[in-house]
Amino acid sequence: MAYRVLSSRAAPSSSSKFSSRFMFIFTLSLSFTYVCYSVLFCSAPVMPSSRLEERRCARGESAGAKKLLQKSAACTEANSSRSELKATAAPLRLAVNRSEQASTRSSRARGADVTRSKPSNASTISTSAQRYGNKKLPNALIVGVKKGGTRAVLEFIRIHPDVRALGTEPHFFDRNYDKGMDWYRGLMPRTLDSQITMEKTPSYFVTHEAPRRIATMSQDTKLIVVVRNPVTRAISDYTQTLSKKPDIPSFEDLAFKNRSQGLVDTSWNAIRIGMYILHLENWLQYFRLSQIHFVSGERLITDPAGELGRVQDFLGLKRIITDKHFYFNRTKGFPCLKKPESSSTPRCLGKSKGRTHVQIDQEVIEQLRDFYRPFNVKFYEMVGHDFRWD
Ligand SMILES: *[C@@H]1O[C@H](CO)[C@@H](O)[C@H](O)[C@H]1NC(C)=O
Ligand SMILES: *[C@@H]1O[C@H](CO)[C@@H](O)[C@H](O)[C@H]1NC(C)=O
Ligand SMILES: *[C@@H]1O[C@H](CO)[C@@H](O)[C@H](O)[C@H]1NC(C)=O
Ligand SMILES: *[C@@H]1O[C@H](CO)[C@@H](O)[C@H](O)[C@H]1NC(C)=O
Ligand SMILES: *[C@@H]1O[C@H](CO)[C@@H](O)[C@H](O)[C@H]1NC(C)=O
Repeated sequence: MAYRVLSSRAAPSSSSKFSSRFMFIFTLSLSFTYVCYSVLFCSAPVMPSSRLEERRCARGESAGAKKLLQKSAACTEANSSRSELKATAAPLRLAVNRSEQASTRSSRARGADVTRSKPSNASTISTSAQRYGNKKLPNALIVGVKKGGTRAVLEFIRIHPDVRALGTEPHFFDRNYDKGMDWYRGLMPRTLDSQITMEKTPSYFVTHEAPRRIATMSQDTKLIVVVRNPVTRAISDYTQTLSKKPDIPSFEDLAFKNRSQGLVDTSWNAIRIGMYILHLENWLQYFRLSQIHFVSGERLITDPAGELGRVQDFLGLKRIITDKHFYFNRTKGFPCLKKPESSSTPRCLGKSKGRTHVQIDQEVIEQLRDFYRPFNVKFYEMVGHDFRWD
């Protein structure tokens, strides 16, 4: 082509026969380029690697997906052809749950990033994997705590191309355990072997059976706990409850058995959740401390990139999420994720985070601080980090 162009320039006075020949070749090359691009863009997402096919078939699928797979016979024959797999593609996508669709959508929004930043083999098939990878039981869980900032950590960490997360809280290890592991796996987003599957359910941390059950799933599960000053956590918790049930008694009435005696009601959930050391001891019966990473809910606000850096290290991920992913919204007083190109709204630290807490008497706050202090100190000693809540 280049030669043709040059030669046609070199001999502009050549006959019209020559220029029409040039036009012909030019058109042909344009068409060729167009066809090439079409083939590239259309085929990339529908050509998973053969490795993926095998993995998918080898593993158990959710009931719905399995039925569909069997119907289309893609999984009953280990060596199914690619065309068969292509045929499965549409029904498979229909089987995806709404919650999962949401997470798939948001990660598809990051599709470009995923492809760009993955150095491995996987980069070429990452687009397809978002639609067709394997459903796996989670390798990492955000287990708590309520009102600590778990949603923010999940939303922040899932920017990472090697993380795929369930957007909703499945409550598997507390409320839905009787539905079984296959049900649980079925909820998960599809992932590549190189990707980490995650979910978050803050009530796990205070559920007595949760550590044993999670250890039964896998003793290598990585656990993340977002902790925050238990006094502010309790007030935030109460504020949330109050917004749903305006008729509940005052914070003071619920927090104390006898306020003049300073007798705190530890049976009230808003109080009990903040006694972190007691819950942690239960977890340590089943997991090593090194398997649990504690995120400071306070630092998550002041230094989200720093906290996320440590989370990435803990998960064995390359540090991809950095300062440049965040901006601080001064009006809101919280960090937000920079707007992904294809998403309409920026994601900030929780929708209700701007909510003003109910006014609590300073004296009550002092009483609760005194109450929590010994628990906090033990907790700092256990985890080897002073969260400075006093
Ligand atoms: C599928 O192919 C592999 C090698 O490509 C072979 O070892 C295996 O036996 C085949 N399985 C079936 C069910 O044909
Ligand atoms: C690419 O894939 C092959 C086989 O799946 C694997 O052995 C190899 O280590 C991979 N290379 C990279 C860079 O991940
Ligand atoms: C879809 O989600 C609903 C509610 O979260 C659940 O009851 C149902 O079992 C899920 N279906 C599949 C196929 O995972
Ligand atoms: C709280 O304790 C004080 C002092 O022991 C006692 O006089 C009071 O009746 C108690 N109040 C309640 C509500 O139990
Ligand atoms: C900051 O937060 C305020 C209050 O929630 C919101 O109205 C505003 O649009 C946000 N600004 C940016 C740049 O996100």
